[in-house]
Amino acid sequence: MTPHPLDPLSPDELAAAIEIVRREQGLNQNHLFVFTLLDEPTKDALNAWKTGDPMDRAARITIWDRAEGMLIESVVGLDGTVRRWEPQPGQKAALLGPEATACIAAAKSDPRVLEGLRRRGIDDISQVHMETWPFGIDVPDHLDDGRRLFWTPMWHRPTPDANQYAHPIGGLHAIVAIDTAEVVDVEDTEGIPTPQTPGPYRLSQTGGDVRLKPLEIIQPEGASFTVDGWEIQWERWRFRLGHCQREGLVIHDVRFDDEGTERKIAHRMSIAELVIPYGDQGINGAARKAAFDTGEFGFGNYTNSLTLGCDCLGEIVYLDTAVADAAGEVHVTKQGICLHEEDVGILWKHTDADGHVEVRRGRRFVASSIATIDNYEYGYFWYFHQDGTIEFEAKLTGIVLTRAAIPGEENPSATELEPGLLAPYHQHLFCARLDLDVDGVGNTVYEVDAVAHPMGPENPAGNAYMTRELPLASESLAKRVIDPFASRFWKVVNPERTNHMGKPVGYKLMPGGANWPMADPESVIGKRARFMYHHLWVTPQRPDELYPAGDHPYQHEGLDGLPRWTAADRPLENEDIVLWYTFGTNHIPRTEDWPVMPVEHTGFHLKPSGFFRRSPGIDVAPSEPKHCCSSNPHAASGDAATGSKD
Ligand code: NI
Repeated sequence: MTPHPLDPLSPDELAAAIEIVRREQGLNQNHLFVFTLLDEPTKDALNAWKTGDPMDRAARITIWDRAEGMLIESVVGLDGTVRRWEPQPGQKAALLGPEATACIAAAKSDPRVLEGLRRRGIDDISQVHMETWPFGIDVPDHLDDGRRLFWTPMWHRPTPDANQYAHPIGGLHAIVAIDTAEVVDVEDTEGIPTPQTPGPYRLSQTGGDVRLKPLEIIQPEGASFTVDGWEIQWERWRFRLGHCQREGLVIHDVRFDDEGTERKIAHRMSIAELVIPYGDQGINGAARKAAFDTGEFGFGNYTNSLTLGCDCLGEIVYLDTAVADAAGEVHVTKQGICLHEEDVGILWKHTDADGHVEVRRGRRFVASSIATIDNYEYGYFWYFHQDGTIEFEAKLTGIVLTRAAIPGEENPSATELEPGLLAPYHQHLFCARLDLDVDGVGNTVYEVDAVAHPMGPENPAGNAYMTRELPLASESLAKRVIDPFASRFWKVVNPERTNHMGKPVGYKLMPGGANWPMADPESVIGKRARFMYHHLWVTPQRPDELYPAGDHPYQHEGLDGLPRWTAADRPLENEDIVLWYTFGTNHIPRTEDWPVMPVEHTGFHLKPSGFFRRSPGIDVAPSEPKHCCSSNPHAASGDAATGSKD
């Protein structure tokens, strides 16, 4: 295992960084650790570094000082120095672990809450599941003095194995001031019954249907990839993995072996934000539901420990992940990242006029991790294909968020799953940050549309169409939306590197899962997540421009991040650039999404476009069907058939 400057902070390094900043800055129990992240080296520093060189390692630590109500940004060198210490007046931290414990205890012992529960027939507070939600809209006027607050939707869990989301408690919430762990208001609207239809999903409750025979993935000679520390080599791909408390899975330094020459494609790729605006009406606090699962919750805090044969099938290599929590304790998640190969059907095929057939099966390398944030699961899957394609797919599953309503009552923004059990409409909007370096750092982005002239001199038969390429020369020009009618895509080219036909080499971003945000741009969430109103943004690469809604979205007034940076309208041609792509799902819940939602997929592709001379998958070896057998009961050869016979 060869250490590298891009490796995630190890458990020992996390502990050391916390220890150094505590000692050097005289921190105490009032200082909580919001995020402890690798302070990544610059591209110049990376280029200068060689295997075996000493590494300068540092952590970027965001600290919340509870006593002062002050957020502090710091950079802590593992050589024992604090290199940056900058208070950030006006910025707020989201609710942090030790605070949550105290605040939930306060809410669960508040006499008004207990009385409200009793009136709803719930006497046992241990059966109440309270969640801690940020205010996705304005804080109520009488509480709006700048303090940090959260509110508590509640659910009843009548038995230990019950699905609590089947039993939302209607009209009762505590609003808690985080810094003082004090319940500052209790909202109690009577007359909404708690839905009683259970939502069982455990095996012990549903039983397992056994109609299908086992399916095993066998790789008799083992996996085809190698893992050296955090570096992966598979087929012609070489890249590094990372994991970060804020973004979860990170992909670094992606390279492809093009007939013996290793060519760089991407420097760093991640999902830099995930925002979930709920489109619910104002009833019972429901309009407040809007959360930044990356910027407020820290996606990497919720990384699952994966299990072989269930989350992943085949020859698997796992990597452990680690985070430091708000109290500075380091937690290791065993098997947090899954690495494996998957068969993806045919890669290409042709039957010649003379009957000669050439066909190749395709395979892809998969790096994945799954996070559980309250009711929802998000899988992040990065795929590397043999034709040079990089694909990102988010897999959304888990349990839809529920609220209670009067059974049968009209609710225009929610689906009634069972009597009185509502699943409000909502969107899951992801923003990918793609720091591509296509054959080097100097890149230009073009928007490519398919266009047709009207029938006439330029288009005599009316069938002709062409492509129109618009260089996205500056940040204001580079705020774009999808256009499926023009088959729009965006191509990142290196203007100084040409292919065999004299055209600049490029990779194109194929938009997928595009969605339009339903929230008004002037709403609180519309201002706070302003990035979602353009599917594409392009910015010059800057080490401190990492999160599209800004560094600290919690109770922020908005317009931070992309809208703020791009106001400078910086030039983008032949620059080191970053693409920001927003995609996701518009979730109108179905009754079939209950009780646990079957996986919903969304994502995008990066495809070579004039990057290679020809298909890089053309010389893939044919697969030998050692384990093929017919299960056709009418097949001629009885020997080969091991399937069912009639
Ligand atoms: Ni959803």
